Amino acid sequence: MRGSSVDIEKVLESRAALIDKEMGLLSFVIEPPELAEVVRYALCQKGKKVRASLLTISCEAVGGNIAQALVPAAVMEMIHNTSLVMDDVIDAAETRRGRSTINHRWGNNMALIACDALLALTIRQASKSSSKMTNAIIECAANSMLSLAEGEALELVGKDYTLKDYYKIAERKTASLFSASAEIGALVGGGTDREIKALGQYGTSIGIAFQIRDDILDVTASTDSLGKPTLIDLKMDRPTMIMLLANESGLTREKMLAMNRDELRDALKPSVARAESLAMEQINNARRHLEAVRPGPSRDLLYALGDYVLARGK
Ligand code: IPE
Ligand code: IPE
Ligand code: MG
Ligand code: MG
Repeated sequence: MRGSSVDIEKVLESRAALIDKEMGLLSFVIEPPELAEVVRYALCQKGKKVRASLLTISCEAVGGNIAQALVPAAVMEMIHNTSLVMDDVIDAAETRRGRSTINHRWGNNMALIACDALLALTIRQASKSSSKMTNAIIECAANSMLSLAEGEALELVGKDYTLKDYYKIAERKTASLFSASAEIGALVGGGTDREIKALGQYGTSIGIAFQIRDDILDVTASTDSLGKPTLIDLKMDRPTMIMLLANESGLTREKMLAMNRDELRDALKPSVARAESLAMEQINNARRHLEAVRPGPSRDLLYALGDYVLARGK
């Protein structure tokens, strides 16, 4: 298996453009115009579209083509967008993707109504999929949405989180959509049962690594480059990988809150390094699952996606 010779970032960019185009075809009539505006705002944002891109690559990896994957890819991106609208309400976040969040601009009530409308549009879109696998796709997408809700809730209700709790939460709130995307791609692409299962497992590990990287970026990146607030996990007291590892090493939240940005960055270096190696572990797991997928350039891309997830800067 190879990864180094493929430019995964270029591929992701061109996939994102295709998915943007597909989502641009979505037409809906919603009243009042205020709600239509908010829904459009949520759907026309410049996200990276990693889950949707993964779905298309997974489809090709089992012998399918991109055209078969575009509707379900847009569906998964819509679920993801909806989850971010909800997540920003929970975090009281003011920016996302370099723009004002819906809750910040229109208020929490409008954000909640928009989530409802977005999910309705998502279900409608999913039912339009012409694949004979439509029911399986909807079931898989619905299961991932339920997991996502569980993950977001688990993050709110617990205390004294352990790393084991962390993995459970990351698997539910983030990896579920990655896993469903990879699995749905393999379903529409006509993969074997073994490939479908392996790609689902691949997606889970990639998704956990993706969340670990997200937790790292919260403390290492700038708001400008991320397009969303940084240090928000510390502020909101979220059990991220970095916060858990820091606590384990004796660095309490109180101590961290008393530090300035540079002091905090230095103090968190060992936790960041450990988190990077735990993310690498997940990528190695993910790659092991690829052994059950037929060899080819798309499998190489899935391999290379691991490098992207580990190093992404936004
Ligand atoms: C953000 O996901 C939420 C997480 C699960 C970490 P992305 O980093 O994929 O967000 P966009 O879609 O590119 O904005
Ligand atoms: C992932 O967690 C959120 C969802 C599952 C929707 P985060 O709370 O870390 O995501 P960001 O950092 O706000 O994008
Ligand atoms: Mg958040
Ligand atoms: Mg985050």
